[in-house]
Amino acid sequence: MPSTPRCIAVQTATEQYDIHIGAGALAQLGQQARAWNKGRKAFVLTHPGLYELYGGRLSESLRAADYAVESCLVPEGERSKTLRHAARLFTKLARMGADRQSVIFALGGGVIGDLSGFVAASYMRGIPLVHVPTSLLAMVDSSIGGKTGVNHPLGKNLIGAFYPPRMVVTDTSLLASLPEREYLCGLSEIVKAGAIGDPELFAFMENRVQAIRERDEATLTTLIERAIAVKVRVVQEDPTEKGVRAILNFGHTIGHALEAATAYARYTHGEAVAIGMALVARLSERLQYCSADVRERLCDLLTTLRLPVAYADIMPQLLLDVMAHDKKSVNGVVRFVMLEDIGAVAFQQSVPLDVLQELLEEYAATPATAQ
Ligand SMILES: NC(=O)c1ccc[n+]([C@@H]2O[C@H](COP(=O)([O-])OP(=O)(O)OC[C@H]3O[C@@H](n4cnc5c(N)ncnc54)[C@H](O)[C@@H]3O)[C@@H](O)[C@H]2O)c1
Ligand SMILES: [Zn+2]
Repeated sequence: MPSTPRCIAVQTATEQYDIHIGAGALAQLGQQARAWNKGRKAFVLTHPGLYELYGGRLSESLRAADYAVESCLVPEGERSKTLRHAARLFTKLARMGADRQSVIFALGGGVIGDLSGFVAASYMRGIPLVHVPTSLLAMVDSSIGGKTGVNHPLGKNLIGAFYPPRMVVTDTSLLASLPEREYLCGLSEIVKAGAIGDPELFAFMENRVQAIRERDEATLTTLIERAIAVKVRVVQEDPTEKGVRAILNFGHTIGHALEAATAYARYTHGEAVAIGMALVARLSERLQYCSADVRERLCDLLTTLRLPVAYADIMPQLLLDVMAHDKKSVNGVVRFVMLEDIGAVAFQQSVPLDVLQELLEEYAATPATAQ
């Protein structure tokens, strides 16, 4: 039963777009695009599997609004976020006669969103982009804020631009087919949103664990709306990542180190971030940024959602080396977003490497499932 989509407006000096959220929102997408676009052609960029699942519904909505629809399919996974795939897409757009009025519809998770954004930003110096996020992570994170990009052999997300979408359509009913591990990955980012800026969202999650596990639609809609609102608030304040936007990296410094140290093969991004948040909460308690209660609430929520809060079988020194080489570390001091309370963090806090080392060594001895 489709619900009436709700709308969150994003407005910064350089971007202005609406995020439409609701189960069944896909049906209105064509008409909504017509409200600001007079073009003839729509390019749906997606993976073959997602095209099979949702391409029909999306195309139907676009055709009903008088768009000629072309699909551009790329394989699943991070390996599609490359200049090679972007180049293939530029060729396809040019061959199919895409012009400045043509719209790219990015139907997928963060991989599709980042690649499509990069292509839309560059083709003819920028053509309209609509995000249609299908993963929970893309709904609450990557479709908002205008960061686009592709990977390079020398670095993840190394090549890219800030390029805002013209509109985001977040149809929560698409989550029904999302694999469990990917679902948990998005939940990790929602816990992060609560921890950095919305104590009510955090408490709501604590009280709705069962409904969250069952993907109850009303519960999910609330989670998604509130998490989007946190990100929108932060991005509006700092659209180009000069200051406060750093709080979105809560749990990510250690999370990225875990991902890199395990060659991006062991943990999903959300799992690595969950461990990162739990470790930073410990660090925050130890350095007296927060009480033991606050640390415990964060670790408990992650655990009840079945997200990991500790790592095993990785040399702490390896994690430290990765962090020391992180572009955010200066002179042996790593900068962290520290937890002060549920809903409050302090960013750009310097943590001496020896304190960090002590913590990582303690955790390395702990079995992966323990707190
Ligand atoms: N631009 C940003 O601000 C930003 C923020 C966070 C992450 N990212 C990027 O996002 C990417 C990760 O995104 P992700 O976690 O969505 O991964 P993803 O795009 O690879 O999607 C995960 C998997 O789930 C599948 N999937 C997605 N939606 C589905 C659905 N509804 N039903 C069935 N299967 C579905 C995909 O096909 C894929 O196999 C990374 O490349 C990361 O760098 C970007
Ligand atoms: Zn993240």
